[in-house]
Amino acid sequence: MGQGIAQVAAQAGLDVVMVDAALDFAQAGVGKIKKTLDRLVEKGKLDGGARDQTIARLRPGGRHQDLADCHVVIEAAPEKEELKLSIFKSLGEVCNDEAILASNTSSISITKIAAASGRPDRVIGMHFMNPVPLMKLVEIVRGLPTSDATYQTTVDLAKRFGKTTIGARDIPGFIVNRMLIPLLNEACYGLYEGLGTAADIDTGVRLGLNHPMGPLELADLIGLDTCLAIAEVLHRELGDDKYRPCPLLRQYVAAGWLGKKVGRGFYEYDPQGQKKAIA
Ligand SMILES: NC(=O)c1ccc[n+]([C@@H]2O[C@H](COP(=O)([O-])OP(=O)(O)OC[C@H]3O[C@@H](n4cnc5c(N)ncnc54)[C@H](O)[C@@H]3O)[C@@H](O)[C@H]2O)c1
Repeated sequence: MGQGIAQVAAQAGLDVVMVDAALDFAQAGVGKIKKTLDRLVEKGKLDGGARDQTIARLRPGGRHQDLADCHVVIEAAPEKEELKLSIFKSLGEVCNDEAILASNTSSISITKIAAASGRPDRVIGMHFMNPVPLMKLVEIVRGLPTSDATYQTTVDLAKRFGKTTIGARDIPGFIVNRMLIPLLNEACYGLYEGLGTAADIDTGVRLGLNHPMGPLELADLIGLDTCLAIAEVLHRELGDDKYRPCPLLRQYVAAGWLGKKVGRGFYEYDPQGQKKAIA
């Protein structure tokens, strides 16, 4: 997700510092964006000059201090509460006092993240959809202490990225994942109970409900670890058993079958990310 967010920001004309857990990960991330843009140029969908300008706006970094001069920081680290709290504590210490700190979290409390940052009025949720360059929506999530100025600047930024925004309250899952994760989890239960094959379930939802993707292929795209993490937050924080993560989803994550990003989830994928034919 971080790569997609960096790409749309740079394409909107902003200078971007891309920080990952280590500098070489960030450098690899910039390399992947370049490959994506190269493909668009080959297909005639992007001008070569625009690609070069976009790449020139991306600078990889390996430390939070590399973000010290940024006006807005958008965090997209794995969906783990302790990790996000420690990142926001550190960002609150090293970033410019006026900087807005946004999180792309799918489910973790913005109010809690804001409290860890030491600047709670300048923290907000900016929840992009996957894949970021293609999906129009950004959910803007206000924590309890988020200021009106922070909200307005964040909405304006999302619009500059070419996105449509919706406002959501800081309640687990916000709007989109409150609907989506129960659907994906129910599809896992369907597979677990032998209702049909993964292909049957996905075809049923695509053709029967007119969704562009089936829930199991979408779960593979999101990442099964991310889906499980969100389902656990919904279950724990809302306290309702209707959100209980499917045991099969837990098993896939335990096996390391995390979806498209590792080549195997409910389906198998070739190195180009194409779904392999089912025997
Ligand atoms: N996958 C989706 O479809 C999707 C959609 C919307 C929002 N999100 C949210 O975006 C966030 C990231 O999800 P993802 O699917 O891209 O996860 P991912 O595991 O694919 O990628 C996480 C990235 O964070 C990096 N990272 C790990 N520890 C870090 C640290 N301490 N500091 C900086 N970077 C670190 C990893 O190296 C990796 O590049 C999560 O909060 C998730 O809920 C994901």
